[in-house]
Amino acid sequence: SLTINKGAVEFKNVSFHYPESDVPVLRNLSFSVKPGETLAILGSTGSGKTSLFQLVPRLYDVTEGEVLVDGKNVMNYPIEKLRKGIGVVPQEAVLFTGSITENIGWGKEDATSDEIISAAVDAQIHETVEKLPNQYDTRVGQRGVNLSGGQKQRLSIARALVRKPKILMLDDSTSALDLKTEGKLLKALRTYSCTTFIITQKISTAMEADHILLLDDGAVEAWGTHEELLNTSPLYVKIVQS
Ligand code: CTP
Ligand code: MG
Repeated sequence: SLTINKGAVEFKNVSFHYPESDVPVLRNLSFSVKPGETLAILGSTGSGKTSLFQLVPRLYDVTEGEVLVDGKNVMNYPIEKLRKGIGVVPQEAVLFTGSITENIGWGKEDATSDEIISAAVDAQIHETVEKLPNQYDTRVGQRGVNLSGGQKQRLSIARALVRKPKILMLDDSTSALDLKTEGKLLKALRTYSCTTFIITQKISTAMEADHILLLDDGAVEAWGTHEELLNTSPLYVKIVQS
């Protein structure tokens, strides 16, 4: 039956409003990303970046148009199969009360200890975990150790990586990381060869991507590489200079 094989993603004339409102949040978006490519999504607060993300694993459904994965409408996939192939790292990292191992392995209960550690190494959190009182058995969440925002973000990235997703979606998940750590993380992500959507505020991150999508008030303001956008989008130039 239908599973994600390659991780190609296409938006075809996608518009969207939330069920409880009729204000359009995304307007007529069309773009496509090939398997293994990285797409950086930029745009001011409220421009629709998180809303766009949610349409791929069907946390919400489009109100017009189509989202295609490997050429097939996401509506045609069994939802568990669809979500199994997509690693979503939400804007606010969520930790559960439990050990580090349980937090990374959440949703993939058959993960081996080697797989957990390897995901943690790639997410650049392994060294931090090693320094905790009980390493991977250390309890986090309620009555557990306190972790910083950036540490929570990296655990949350490790949780997505351990599933070896075909499509990885990072919602501003590296905002609390310094540039050096972020650089190492992005390098490690390349070894996964997954299609990567990365919402970011940082031009340095966007520059590394195959494509940049600049959203403005729910519509595509610009699409292209860093060099292309410097030549075609006054808004992008303004962001670069700010
Ligand atoms: N919105 C809404 N109902 C929700 C979530 C969002 O009506 N459950 C609206 C917001 O008020 C906003 C628009 O949808 O006007 C886009 O929101 P979002 O996609 O969350 O914007 P982001 O670009 O992700 O903003 P940020 O950078 O602040 O995360
Ligand atoms: Mg958002």
